[in-house]
Amino acid sequence: MENQRSSRLPGFYQKSLPERIGIIAKWVGLSQAEQAILENATGLSPQQVNQMVENALGVYGLPLGVATNFQINGKDYLIPMVIEEPSVVAACSFAARMARSGGGFTTSSDEPVMIGQIQVLDVENLQVAADQILAERESLLALVNDPDLTIIKLGGGGRDIEVRQFRQTTIGPMLVVDLLYDTRDAMGANAINTACEKLAPAIERITGGRVNLRILSNLSDRRKATASCLMTTEALTTKNMPGALVAKSIVEAAVFAEVDPYRATTHNKGVMNGVDAVVIATGNDWRAVEAGAHAYAARDGRYTSMTRWWQDENGNLRGMLTLPMAVGTVGGATKVHPTAQIAMKILGVSSARELAEVIVSVGLAQNFAAIRALATEGIQAGHMALHARQLALAAGAQGEMVNRIVETMIAEGNIRLDRAKSLVKAVLDKPNLA
Ligand code: MEV
Repeated sequence: MENQRSSRLPGFYQKSLPERIGIIAKWVGLSQAEQAILENATGLSPQQVNQMVENALGVYGLPLGVATNFQINGKDYLIPMVIEEPSVVAACSFAARMARSGGGFTTSSDEPVMIGQIQVLDVENLQVAADQILAERESLLALVNDPDLTIIKLGGGGRDIEVRQFRQTTIGPMLVVDLLYDTRDAMGANAINTACEKLAPAIERITGGRVNLRILSNLSDRRKATASCLMTTEALTTKNMPGALVAKSIVEAAVFAEVDPYRATTHNKGVMNGVDAVVIATGNDWRAVEAGAHAYAARDGRYTSMTRWWQDENGNLRGMLTLPMAVGTVGGATKVHPTAQIAMKILGVSSARELAEVIVSVGLAQNFAAIRALATEGIQAGHMALHARQLALAAGAQGEMVNRIVETMIAEGNIRLDRAKSLVKAVLDKPNLA
């Protein structure tokens, strides 16, 4: 039944906010209480806020939108997105609709293995110490894999231990012990940090050195997710450009970002517009995902594009995005934030890996929408249309009047509040114009 639901919701954007809540409630089966949380639009109570951070004052609201049209591995998804920037949700939905022409997004992901780091100093012989740690690998893993821990019962826990040597640093030689730890459906920061702290005394005993830091790495490159998609040339065709030319121009835009870090930064910002919006909506740590994504984009020593776009032998456009994706479906704000829980329900994912795969699909979609716009009509056309719409609404336009006023302001090249107000007044003075 669930797989038969379509995320194609034509006209969704034209509905009123309560109507949209009603449609989503039906789509995912939201209770009255859950609908009320969306209607109240605050998400968190003062008590909850007070428990989450120190010196709490209040709640800072951000819009929660829903991107439509997503099909990932043959399953339809509605995507909750928290973002203040206009046009991101619309662009994402547009890209997902276009990706349907090529069968939607196809994804894969690694096992949810994170890295915890232990910094060891004052070691006499780095190589000897490294060999000794590796020789004790099994007993060290046994130390963190306490069968009474919930995460171990769920099938997670320490998987491996690796050692890296930094022979010359400004503070002398340094050994870094990396604990590879499977966090299952948790983001896992707490589990890893606890495990690293537990290992530290044993590491000191084995190496004769002194442990300083014990902390996870946000470069979670053992926990990557990949999305790819295909856009047919037919789907890419615009009023003014044949699809083959659109595909070529998008590839040219993508190569610009591959070779130039200045462009890569902006290109990747577009990817993260999509990624962060879902990471935030689901109560996950977007700073962790951001840090990991940009570090991964510089993994070869030069900052480059996160995505790749190319044309296949039939001229169709193909895209791919791989990112480290340390997100969880249990614990943290995902568990305590009522709106994050609703976002999880809207998404309907059953594991952290599935969530990670959805997120990279959204990142790829967002990137496509941005470079398609840039390589065709330019980014301002869409932005100005949205801006004109906001001005028309602010000027008091309603219903069909909104579109007419938007079109007039765009045609005149005069997108200003005073013009919107005078157009609204003209319509109201002469109702037969409406
Ligand atoms: C704006 O938020 C994002 C873009 O600048 C991304 C890009 O240039 O690819 C449009």
